[in-house]
Amino acid sequence: MSDTKHNIKLIGLNGNLPLAEKTAEVLGFPLIKTSIKHFSDGEINININETVRGDNVYVIQSIQDPVNENLMELLIIIDALRRASAHKINVVVPYMAYARADRKTKAREPITAKLVANMIEEAGADRVIALDLHASQIQGFFDIPVDHLRAVSILAKFFLDEGVKENVVIVSPDHSGTNMARKFAEFFDAPIAIVDQRGSHYDDAVHGIIGEVEGATAIIVDDIIDTGIRLSYSTKSLKAAGAKKVYAAATHALLSKNATEILDNAGLEQIVVTDSIIHEDGHYPENMVRLSVDYLLAAAIQHIYENKSLHDIFDDNQNLIMDL
Ligand code: R5P
Repeated sequence: MSDTKHNIKLIGLNGNLPLAEKTAEVLGFPLIKTSIKHFSDGEINININETVRGDNVYVIQSIQDPVNENLMELLIIIDALRRASAHKINVVVPYMAYARADRKTKAREPITAKLVANMIEEAGADRVIALDLHASQIQGFFDIPVDHLRAVSILAKFFLDEGVKENVVIVSPDHSGTNMARKFAEFFDAPIAIVDQRGSHYDDAVHGIIGEVEGATAIIVDDIIDTGIRLSYSTKSLKAAGAKKVYAAATHALLSKNATEILDNAGLEQIVVTDSIIHEDGHYPENMVRLSVDYLLAAAIQHIYENKSLHDIFDDNQNLIMDL
């Protein structure tokens, strides 16, 4: 990586440390040593074991389960870096928890995504690098630069490489996901359809489909798989409407509660996700494929460090360009 006035340093915290390690490996230098202690009363203490004075530091932390502990780790390290005179504190968040709480939908509801943005900024972060935020407008919750990365090309290319491209229809599991579905569909030159989900999404009923899916191979595209219920009833609805095969793609596999069992029984051919979230117990649905975003994060870090446009991370064929 080319020389700049400020050294680059990488830190990985406990929210998906393996992804931070892989990203560091791609970049070609190790994570710096930190000591993170979680005390018996729940408090967290972090020490950074080498100087960061004047450095450009990139902290990689997925705000995944345990969400509040991982969020607190992130805030504490930002504070430590600021007090240790780091030149720039860049926060790389492969998954941002609370992003779904991005607006008031009824009286007396919080907008927790805004609260989290405030806390990260107030702690002293200079930049956020996020991956598939639940809603793009969350970028505006921060007054510091936000680089919003997308996993869509990584996910779509997997299907194309596997030969899943004939008679394909890309399906949004609800009305708010149509943008992501449209972007995905461009890779296949395919039409989109929408699961006409109304009311509570926990009713597990068969919903109507807007668009034509009969006889087609459907790929449901979503940003998050949480309990797996939405994917499960979307698959059921698509099959009821005549879809021949149903696949799923999503960026963040939260897999909370008994999602793994629900997805094992959902009748999906394959579920393709990224490794933005890690489940240390290795308990994933049998037909789940996890694609790494290590190159994407590494390329973004490299381009930001060298003040290059993020637009140039991908070539014209949407392949990642790595030039380390
Ligand atoms: C919601 O707005 C998200 O985009 C996902 O569709 C949702 O979080 C999936 O939840 P679950 O897997 O619990 O049905």
